[in-house]
Amino acid sequence: MEVVYLNGQFIPKDQAMISPDDRGFLFGDSIYEVTRWYGGYFFDLPAHAARFRRSLHETRIVWKDELKLEEITEELIHRNELGAECAIVYFQATRGVAPRNHAFPNPEVEPTVYGFARRHSINTLVCEQGAGLWLTPDPRWNRCDIKSTALIANVLPYQESHDRGYAEVCFVRNGIVTEGAHSNIFFVRDGTLYTHPATNDILAGITRKNVISAARDNAIEVVEEAVAADMIPYMQEAFYCSTTSEIVPATRISDQVIGEGTPGPVTRRLQMLLRDLIQSGDPRR
Ligand code: PDD
Repeated sequence: MEVVYLNGQFIPKDQAMISPDDRGFLFGDSIYEVTRWYGGYFFDLPAHAARFRRSLHETRIVWKDELKLEEITEELIHRNELGAECAIVYFQATRGVAPRNHAFPNPEVEPTVYGFARRHSINTLVCEQGAGLWLTPDPRWNRCDIKSTALIANVLPYQESHDRGYAEVCFVRNGIVTEGAHSNIFFVRDGTLYTHPATNDILAGITRKNVISAARDNAIEVVEEAVAADMIPYMQEAFYCSTTSEIVPATRISDQVIGEGTPGPVTRRLQMLLRDLIQSGDPRR
């Protein structure tokens, strides 16, 4: 039986009830986080917890138990008997329940806080063989640094890329590559890694941060500078990365074949370095 966390309690999922007046449901007035459990430990839980708290503060959602996040996250793994498995923990907080009105509820209400854990392993075939990305305009708002559950602008392009046979999108805003629908994108040229800087136009991925530090620790130069979409043909390698996919080589971006059309050596090396970091359970910085 799946056990979820809802508003201070661990309960069977089929008993979890959320009001239709919940602002997460009505407005997408809500933030979330996704953390990976590797059969015995979380990978970089402090960074995920810090990003969740930042999303709370940026959206002015007040959760008085925010310091219990790590404890609840771990408890979800154990209550669902996932201790020896690979899993994700999903955590969400909405501004709570109130009759529909754009203004924040007055008087203030408690947020709705929901979490679940479920088995998850990466798609090793796609990590091995690589995948295609679909180049498309980035239709999102200008606070992509907040991990909001209001994801329709991610979901629609993602579905279109999926329908066209691609694994992820490659968003372009003002002529430059920002990120994917649920991942960060890197390029390699002459041995140097390029990725969009952590501004409000992207989510500052935890995997992105760990890839950057693993690269720098191993003498691979990293430039946090956006790549123009019309420079893609000059890139020798590309990949996308996230908590749920780790590093996936991008072998094609729309009609443009990347490098030889197979995963390149720098991408392969970074996949190994990230694996080592995960296995050592020791994310840097
Ligand atoms: N997505 N950019 C976006 C828009 C994302 O949604 C994600 C993560 C990332 C990568 O962040 P991280 O490395 O911290 O997972 C970048 C999660 C996994 C999701 O929505 O399921």
